[in-house]
Order: sequence, then structure tokens, then C-alpha cells
Amino acid sequence: MKKYGFNLPTRIEVAAGLLKDTGPLVGEVTSGKRAFLVTDPGVKEAGLADRAGSSLADAGFDCSIFDNVKPNPRDTDCEAGGEEARRFKADIIVAVGGGSVIDSAKAIALLQTYGGPLVSYEGRGTVPGPVTPLAAVPTTAGTGSEVTRSAVITDTKRRFKMGIKDVRLAPELALIDPETTYKLPQGLTASTGMDALVHAIEAYTCRAANPFSDALALAAIEKIFPALPTAVREGGNKQARDDMMIGSVMAGIAFSHADVGAVHCLAEAIGSLYDTPHGVANSIFLPSVTAFNAEADPQRHARIAAACGLEVKNMEAEEASRLLVEKLAELSSEIGIPTLSNLEQVNPKDFEHLAELSEINGSTPSNCRFIDKEAYLNILQDCYKS
Ligand SMILES: [Fe+2]
Repeated sequence: MKKYGFNLPTRIEVAAGLLKDTGPLVGEVTSGKRAFLVTDPGVKEAGLADRAGSSLADAGFDCSIFDNVKPNPRDTDCEAGGEEARRFKADIIVAVGGGSVIDSAKAIALLQTYGGPLVSYEGRGTVPGPVTPLAAVPTTAGTGSEVTRSAVITDTKRRFKMGIKDVRLAPELALIDPETTYKLPQGLTASTGMDALVHAIEAYTCRAANPFSDALALAAIEKIFPALPTAVREGGNKQARDDMMIGSVMAGIAFSHADVGAVHCLAEAIGSLYDTPHGVANSIFLPSVTAFNAEADPQRHARIAAACGLEVKNMEAEEASRLLVEKLAELSSEIGIPTLSNLEQVNPKDFEHLAELSEINGSTPSNCRFIDKEAYLNILQDCYKS
């Protein structure tokens, strides 16, 4: 029996409309009154950051807003945010946004407490002690960052997405309000939703999986796979939006107690080189990596096919896995995700380098089937052709 543990340090509160209670809920996890609100221009534009901000003000908080977060967030912006949070003497960081915002907020909490450069914390268990507490309000159903202990930030000098994994980065509070996603545009709903699905699939298939992460990963797949096309097609469908939100939180807990695998390794490589949105990148590689991995573990992939609701009862595991690969590719095209060759910046001359970046990703050893640079290169070429 392998060694594993389960520790969810984040208090999770769920309700439609909970955003308006941000102030009182944040007041339950800090005795301080200075809140540093991290967001991005899109979320601010949608009015979500201001709603959280006025709830904080009503609860007696002094609020400072930092909205300089870009997709595929950068170390330099986090370092500037850390300095601002220091000057403001923040008692709590409140993140309102998607994965880029929440990951940046984790880095800002760390940098406010211990200073930079951010690259000095790359890796696992590198945080010297407690950091400024963090409350996270996800506004996409995808990242799971509100319940994870990791931040993925681009090291701008190396053009490399570095991972910082430490339990001290886990938010104190995750405020889950599916209403924040009701007006999310189709493209973002699709790409972030695919990210959530990939979290669940990789958590279930990776070498670090355990019975606790398995239960949450399968439950997440059951919610996300049928809900995603509906959430994209009918943004106002509350049931689909609620299922996506809860599924993405479950998937986040699952992968933070297991790991991700080769899909994320490839996605992070192209994200750092081309700035490809994370969910789009994941979606592009999901079918090919699933086909590659299913050969090593058809049983688990057949179980995923069943969790997706596919008719696989009377099939051999290999056949069910093949159907899964087909349906994942169909889902991706149905919800409008481009293919690798559709991405403007992609140049096959970069594939060697992308394969190298994927191989050195810290999650490569977790992939359920041994994978090296050569295999990554084959997958890249395969995806480019299809
Ligand atoms: Fe992800």
C-alpha cells in the first residue's frame, strides 16, 4: 500500500449570491481590517470585484484594489503586487477572479510576507512559514486554485511556467458563488471548463492518485462532462453553471491531493512560449495524451468513460477507452476550442523545445505512462496533423 494523506486546509462556503457576503465571511477568517483585493481588468469590468469590495467596505474593511493581472500571470507583476501589499500593510489578500488572479494572489501573499524574487520559491515545500491569509472567490469554473496549494506563474526571464507548491499557499477561505459565472463569455466558459475536466481526468489517472482523490475526481467528471456543452451553449442555464462550479472545485481538491500529468506539462510548455490560454492548451492535448495513456491503463480510462455517462457497459476496457478519446475530441470541437494548427503563433520548429519544456515539468513523473521528450514530440506532431 502506498503512503498518502488528505488535508484540506481551506474552508469552503457555497451559495448562489454569496459574493455579496464577502465582507462578513472574510471577517470570520481575519481579525485585521486591511484587505488587498487582487483581480484583473475583465473581472473588474464585469462589476464582480466592486461587489466584493463594497461588501468588504460595509463590513469595515479598508480596501486596496490591485488589478494588474494578465492571463498566464507573470512573476514581475506579482512582485509589484507584493510590494504594493507590503506598503498597504495588508492583513488579508482577497482574490476575485479566475486561476491567473488566484495564483497571483498566492504569490502576492508570499511576496508580501517574505519578499522576492518569486523564482527563489520555485518547487515544493519552499515557503519558509505562514503567509498573509488569503480568501479566494473564483469567477470561472475551471482553475480549482481556490482549493489548491499551488501557484503557476511565468518566470519572464526563462519564459517558463514555474510551479510553487506549498500547503501554506492554500487559501483560508474559498467563497463559491456560481452566479459569478452566469455571464462568463462562451470562449472562457469552454476553455476554463476543459481545464477543470483535465484536472479531474489527470488526478484520476496519475501515479499520485489515491482513494480520496479518486472519489472526488470521478464525481467531478460526472458533473463536468455533461454540463460543459450546456454551460457554453446556454450561459444562463443555472443547473449547468452550478454543476460546472462544484465540479471544478471537486477537481481542484482531487488534483491537489494527487497531481496532474502530461496534458498539463504540454499545456504549460505552450502557455509559456506562446501565451496560449491554459484551458485551450489543455483541451488541444487531451485526446492525444488520453490515447497514449489509455494503452498503459485501459481499466481506469474505461472508468472515466463511464463517469462521463458514455454507453460502455458491454465494452472491453480498450474499446471504452477508444470511445472516450473520440468523445473528448468531439467535446472540444463542439465547444469551439481551436486545434494546435489553428493557433497562429505555433511553429513546428519549436516542437523540440516544447518537448524539452514538457519533459522537465515537475508533473512528468506523475503521468500514468512513462513519457519522455521523444514521446512528447510525437504527441505534438500528432496534434499538429489532426
Ligand atoms: Fe490546469
